[in-house]
Amino acid sequence: MRHKDLCLQTLLLLWSFSCSIELDYTSIFSFGDSYTDTGNFVIISGPTTPELAMTKPPYGMTFFGHPTGRISDGRLIIDFIAEALGLPLLPPSFAANRSFEQGANFATAGGTALDRTFFVVNNYTVLSPFNISLRDQLRWFDGMKPSLCAGTPGGCRGFFSKSLFVVGELGWNDYASVLLAGGGAGEARSVTPQVVSMICAGTQKLIEDGARTVVVSGISPMGCTSGNLVLFASSSEEDYEPDTGCLKSLNLLSMEHNQLLREALTQLRGRNPGVRIIYGDFYTPLAELAATPRRFGIDGEDGALRACCGGGGGRYNFNLSSACGMEGVTACDDPSSYVNWDGVHLTEAAYHHVADGWLWGPYAQPTVLSSA
Ligand SMILES: *[C@@H]1O[C@H](CO)[C@@H](O)[C@H](O)[C@H]1NC(C)=O
Ligand SMILES: *[C@@H]1O[C@H](CO)[C@@H](O)[C@H](O)[C@H]1NC(C)=O
Ligand SMILES: *[C@@H]1O[C@H](CO)[C@@H](O)[C@H](O)[C@H]1NC(C)=O
Ligand SMILES: *[C@@H]1O[C@H](CO)[C@@H](O)[C@H](O)[C@H]1NC(C)=O
Repeated sequence: MRHKDLCLQTLLLLWSFSCSIELDYTSIFSFGDSYTDTGNFVIISGPTTPELAMTKPPYGMTFFGHPTGRISDGRLIIDFIAEALGLPLLPPSFAANRSFEQGANFATAGGTALDRTFFVVNNYTVLSPFNISLRDQLRWFDGMKPSLCAGTPGGCRGFFSKSLFVVGELGWNDYASVLLAGGGAGEARSVTPQVVSMICAGTQKLIEDGARTVVVSGISPMGCTSGNLVLFASSSEEDYEPDTGCLKSLNLLSMEHNQLLREALTQLRGRNPGVRIIYGDFYTPLAELAATPRRFGIDGEDGALRACCGGGGGRYNFNLSSACGMEGVTACDDPSSYVNWDGVHLTEAAYHHVADGWLWGPYAQPTVLSSA
């Protein structure tokens, strides 16, 4: 009896040991755009820029109680990952007087996979006044290395072998840039190979720097977000998915990007044996939320496609000239029963749902973040 108890105890011990050791990342480094930015854009813009909507209430209303530079009512996917791994919420890489030993977030709102010049020379809508593409963010990362890890035992490669890297979501702004210039979904789709190859080149660079675990995020269904549903509205019912009410052509664009990305990641795994490259599915969870909102506690009437915060009223509550954060614009009473926060970005509740799926399943492939 006693012996059996001991066995059981040993088993339990081993089990909890293996569980904790897999979660033993010492830091997180993250790259991306406004879905991941924890404050960089506000810092880069500086105090002289005309006041940014995201620095106003009700941004941050649900979790922080005040705006933090995150473009949501609360925490983002990267915040939920940090919490689950027992690490502090990632400081933006441009934060003053902060230690980056447990990680830094280079993601910046407006960030693109492709360089800013690509959009300039092709006459696409240039969304950001700054150079904040993935290549720029990787350069900032390189600039941080000397102070971060150059002097540590094992050097930077040793340091980064225990870090979790998160790349993306990236691509949304690249495609938005083409769409807003009037290119249409077809032209946006023609850019996917370049976008995906840039994301993979960035991931490969991180692996060469010593990364052993990288999560690469796909993009969300671009046809399900309130802003796009207003900006690219169609008078033909045929242009909408019957089960979700999302725009078909934009969701096809997202799916094509994600499919190419997954194929490219398979190749990347082949080239980098021993490195864990995890695909974070950002599409499926949101498509499911849009198709069966009530199953997930989302307001079935309008919470799946209608922005919580906005001044547009109507079915999607989105209007560029009276957007969330502007004077007199209000938020819904209960953001946790909405998917969309401000027309483009998501509520904390939606981000939480995606993060849980990456950490414990079912939205991460080939393995979840919390396992070996
Ligand atoms: C950073 O630290 C320096 C020196 O201690 C101080 O002068 C400065 O005000 C701090 N900056 C911020 C943004 O806290
Ligand atoms: C962009 O616009 C300029 C000025 O109208 C034109 O000269 C140039 O050919 C365009 N470039 C492309 C790639 O379409
Ligand atoms: C962005 O980078 C390009 C190419 O290096 C450069 O020509 C341009 O001046 C930069 N723009 C800004 C706003 O820094
Ligand atoms: C959008 O907001 C502007 C400014 O508040 C307002 O004048 C306009 O009527 C709104 N448009 C719609 C479609 O609600």
